[in-house]
Order: sequence, then C-alpha cells, then structure tokens
Amino acid sequence: MSFDYQNMRSGTAESSSDAQFARAVLEGLSKVPKRLPSWLIYDDLGSEIFTEITQLPGYHPAQCEIEIFQNHKQAITDMLSKTMFRFIELGAGDGGKTQILLEHLIQNRLTFEYVPIDISEGAVKNLVAALELRYSESNMSVLGIAADYFDGLSNISSNSSMRNIVLFLGSTIGNMELPIAEQFVRKLRESLREGDYVMIGFDLMKNPKILYTAYNDSTGVFERFNLHLLDILNRKLGANFLKENFVQQGSYNPRTHAVESHIYSTREQTVFIEALEKEIHFGAWESMQTEHSYKYTLAEIKFLAEKSGYQIVSHLFDSQNNFVDSIWEVQK
Ligand SMILES: C[S@@+](CC[C@H](N)C(=O)[O-])C[C@H]1O[C@@H](n2cnc3c(N)ncnc32)[C@H](O)[C@@H]1O
Repeated sequence: MSFDYQNMRSGTAESSSDAQFARAVLEGLSKVPKRLPSWLIYDDLGSEIFTEITQLPGYHPAQCEIEIFQNHKQAITDMLSKTMFRFIELGAGDGGKTQILLEHLIQNRLTFEYVPIDISEGAVKNLVAALELRYSESNMSVLGIAADYFDGLSNISSNSSMRNIVLFLGSTIGNMELPIAEQFVRKLRESLREGDYVMIGFDLMKNPKILYTAYNDSTGVFERFNLHLLDILNRKLGANFLKENFVQQGSYNPRTHAVESHIYSTREQTVFIEALEKEIHFGAWESMQTEHSYKYTLAEIKFLAEKSGYQIVSHLFDSQNNFVDSIWEVQK
C-alpha cells in the first residue's frame, strides 16, 4: 500500500495564504476589542503544542473523544464496512485519536484509504511517516495533504466509487463562529456526493466550571499555546511583541456561548508590525481574544445538520454526555 505526502502550501499557494494571514491580523487588530481568529495559531509548533493540550487530563474534549472511539469503534466499523470507503480527515493534527479507529479497521482487514489534511505541514508530514512505520503491512493506503481544508478536498479524485467519510474532530468546528460553521458545513456538503458521511466532534454545553478547568491548566500549556501566536506574528509579519508583557486566561462567555481565550497586556505598550506598517497600541490590562470554542446543544447540532442538507445518522456520546461525535449523511 502507498504512503504519500503532498504539500499544497508552497509557491503561489504560500504567498496567497500569507496575504490571507496578514489580512486576518489587520482586521482582528482593528476590532474593538481586539479579536484574532483561532486558526492563526496553527503553524508547526502551534500544532505540536495543541497535541500537548490533548494530553492534559483535564482537557475533556480530547479525553471524551478518545473514550467515544474506544467504546464505539465496532459500531463505526459496522456502519462503514458495507461499502468501500475513504476516510478524509480535516485538520487531522497528529491524528492521535483517529489511530484508534484506523487500527481497528486494519485489524478487521478492511481495505481503505486515509487522507489527513492539515494546514500545518509538519503535522501532516510526521503523521504520514508515523503511519508508514506502523502500518506498512496493512490494507490502508495514506495520502497526507498539507493544505487549507477545501484546497485539500479539491485535490482528491472525485471519480472514485468509494464512499467518503469526512472526519472533523476535536471540536475544531467550535473554533468557528456559528454563521461561519454553517457556511463551512454547507460548502463541505457541496464538495461531497449523495450518501457520503461526515463525522463531526462537538463539545456540548455543560457546567461552566468544567469548561473553566478544561481551558486553564495549572501547567500553563494553554498560556504557552496562546502566547505562541505572538511569536508567529513576530516571525511572519516582522512584529516586535514581547511575550513577557502578556498573560492569558480562558473563560466561558454566556453571551457568545463560547470559551474565549484572551491574552492581556500587563502594561501600556505599543507594538510595531512591519508588514502592516502599523503601530498597535495596548492599554494596561487591555485584552485581545485569541481563541473561540463554541459549545453546542443537541438542538443546535440537529438544526445545523438539517438546515445544511444532511440527515443525522447517529450520535456517539462519552459516558458523561460531555461530547458527541455526530455522524451525518449527505442529502442531495
Ligand atoms: C483543534 S485542532 C484539532 C486537531 C485534531 N483533529 C484533534 O482532534 O486533536 C485543529 C487542527 O486543524 C488544523 N487547521 C486549522 N485551520 C485549518 C485550515 N484552514 N485548513 C486545514 N487545517 C486547519 C490545525 O492545524 C489543527 O491541527
């Protein structure tokens, strides 16, 4: 079986994604209060720090999804094994949780293709290498693609007779504000065929105290993750942020239904961003939002699926009903 890697982020694609990055930063820093979108944090190191987050015992989204895959891997296999299929994973990261499913499918001697897509080149490259090392004797072939979600999807051959199963795990959908999430799942449906499946990991609304603990670890990994964004701005845009002048905290906002991470400027300061030719002023203790993780109710998930042209096939919960992997079928 083959284990391949494609990088769609070099050359012209790289310069257009750099321009998109600069635009998003300018727009976010011009807002009052300042607010940057979550996807800016995912360069190679950002993706590695996120893997550390998924290993924190208190970070329930990852722990719950691991439990779901361990408990429901047979049910998922039964659902899939009727037809030839291709697993496409959007924002695969280190693919750690997905390997619980892949391993089970391999043990069941199923023949399938796994296509992890991620904006982080390092994450995809490492994932393909790790899978090749472990599963080179299996019936799974792998094509890792370093790309933005939809650039990666458009690169996959559509003339295959295999059913596509698109995985969008880890509550990554929660990083999108509701209208953007709706646009995303609609666009996803347009790029799939009738009968294809998507499986989306949603973190469910719960006691805000649990949410606070999940996003404020005592070891400071979340703070390191969010402050890493300042390093990215320094490197990509020639900014002169001093990380030691900022601290981070995450908290649930009942108005937006999201856990929002903010970094706070510990003093009055002005930062220069060379690529934007702009000085950005921060007042003492002014906040800048760096992450957004929307928490869904089951009613909202049902509404999102049906309004966007999908039929819900199954809901897989963890034992505490904190998280759901929602499986939808594309209707055309
Ligand atoms: C919240 S993490 C989830 C990682 C993994 N799926 C998990 O469940 O642990 C989001 C992942 O999506 C990737 N990502 C973010 N924006 C992306 C985009 N526009 N296109 C492709 N990948 C993206 C990040 O690099 C990161 O690996």
